[in-house]
Parts: sequence; structure tokens; C-alpha cells
Amino acid sequence: MSIRARFIILIGILSLLATIGIGATSYKFSVDNALAEAKSKGHLVFDYLQSSRIYFKSQQRPLIMEHVARGTFIPELMSGFTLTRGVWSEFQKKNKDYLFKQATIDPLHPDNKADKFDLVIIDKFRKNQNMKQAEGVIDKNGASYFYYAEPIKVSRNCLRCHGDPANAPQAVTEKYGTENGYHWKAGTVAAAYVIYVPIQDALNKAKKAAVNLVAIGAGGVLVLMLIIWIFFSQYVVKPISTLEKRATEISLGKNLAQPINITSKDEIGSLARAVDRLRISVDRMLKRFQK
Ligand code: HEC
Repeated sequence: MSIRARFIILIGILSLLATIGIGATSYKFSVDNALAEAKSKGHLVFDYLQSSRIYFKSQQRPLIMEHVARGTFIPELMSGFTLTRGVWSEFQKKNKDYLFKQATIDPLHPDNKADKFDLVIIDKFRKNQNMKQAEGVIDKNGASYFYYAEPIKVSRNCLRCHGDPANAPQAVTEKYGTENGYHWKAGTVAAAYVIYVPIQDALNKAKKAAVNLVAIGAGGVLVLMLIIWIFFSQYVVKPISTLEKRATEISLGKNLAQPINITSKDEIGSLARAVDRLRISVDRMLKRFQK
């Protein structure tokens, strides 16, 4: 293989490796960024929901309770879970990709029913009772989401409505029936607040950007190889083949009168001058013999 081909292949392979490295690093950075962004958005929305619920429970509900007859139960006015579900359904009208659920294994309201993805998260909390929060990336129906979750634990107080339906307020059993949402056990995790923030778009964009970067880089490498090829032809291969031809001629005593016209000031120029001096010496020697 010629020096030129060897050199160019080596440069090509190294530059391609560098380009792929840059593409992979850019992909990793973009993915990390997308995750960090999803995480901060998820936490923000989650905190906002919890804050509105805390305000409701600590400030509004006690006032409401003062104004209604004892024993009255109106979920829209008195249940933090109904409030959060309602606030969320308004929020989601404008933010369709986001998902939030008070995901429950056996809920009163069907909208709160945990799906198989929620169940995986609730299961983590059930297995580890000390776990206060969980977060990560989950694939839901072919799209990736960042999720953040906190467990909902059942206390004795909850059983007034979520225990035996026979003892639950009539308003609850009338509205939600007596089938689902009861017989929960105190001390267990029955549900979890879970927010899902979509990251699939960002991941796709990161992949596309990385592929584009590598494609542009590979194009650049090709152009670089072409330029090196031309440079080598002009400044190395061409003068060396001329020198080789002239050296062969000199060894055969041919064309000795014609000087070598390579005037470059590099190593090839020095070689050319040396071969030219050889030509002059051989020419002189032959002329001396011929006399
Ligand atoms: C006074 C009755 C009452 C009490 C007490 C009560 N809940 Fe509920 N809970 C409800 C009602 C009604 C809903 C349905 C809310 C809705 O419409 O989304 C509900 C919904 C929930 C949900 C959403 C899943 C579902 O069943 O629809 C969870 C989780 C929940 N409650 C947990 C608790 C916990 C934990 C406690 C105790 C700290 C508790 N509840 C105490 C009445 C009650």
C-alpha cells in the first residue's frame, strides 16, 4: 500500500473515531439536559399541586366544616383528593403530555385507578415502607417519561371512608358505590401521587442532533481526506516519481544534460538537489571516460 493511502486511511479512521466520540458525547449531554429539565418541571408541578392541597386542607376546609351541618360530606368541598383531581384535570387541558395521578390500587373514583406502570411504582413503596419518594425514567406505551412519586399511607382515620362500606358516610357510598375503594388496611401504602413528564420528544431530538453531527463530521472527514490526497499528489507523490524516474535514467546514463527542476525548500527539495548533484557527477565521469 502506498504511503499516501496508508496515511490517509489512518487520518480517516482517527477523524471518524473523533467524530463518533463527539456525537456520542453530545447525545449524552442532551439526554442529561432533557432529564434535568423534566425533573425540575416535574418537581415544580408536583410541589404546586401539594401546596394547593395543603392550603385547602389547612385554611379552607376548616372554614367549610364550620358552615355545613355535622356529618355532611360533599367531596368537591371537603376531599383533598377530589380537589387535586379537579385541579389536575384543568391543568391537563393545556398540558396534554403531562400525566398526574393519585394512583390507587383500589380507588373510589375510577380516574384514580393505578395502571400497570403506576402499580410498579406503588409496589416499590409497599416493599420498602421507609421509602419517602421515588423517581426515574419509565417507558409508557412506547414513550419515555420522567416520573416522580410519593407514597400515600393509610392511617386509622382513613378507614372511616375507606374501611368497611357499611360504616362509610352515606354521601360516599351513594356517590361512589360500595364495591371499590374500601377495605383498605391501616399502615399500608394504598396509593401514590405520581407525576409523569414526557421526555420522548427531547430524546428523539437529541438522537437526531447527534446523528446530524456525526453525518456532518463524516462529510468533513471525507473533504479532509480529499484535500490531503491532492496535497500529497502535488507535493510528495509527483516529485518523488519524477525523482525516481530521473534516478533510474541517471543509473542508465540517459538524459544527463537535463537538470532536475524541483526547487521546493523541504526534504524533497534537498533530495532533488542531491540527485541533481549525482546527475552532474555521473555526467562528468562519463564525459571523462568518453574522451
Ligand atoms: C370523609 C371520607 C374520607 C376520608 C376520611 C378519607 N377519604 Fe380518601 N377519599 C374519599 C373520597 C370521597 C374520595 C374520592 C375522591 C375523588 O372524587 O377523586 C377519596 C379518594 C382518595 C384517594 C384517591 C383514590 C380513590 O379512592 O379515588 C386516596 C389515595 C385516598 N382517598 C386516600 C385517603 C387517605 C390516605 C385517607 C386518610 C389519611 C383518606 N383518604 C381519608 C373520602 C375520604
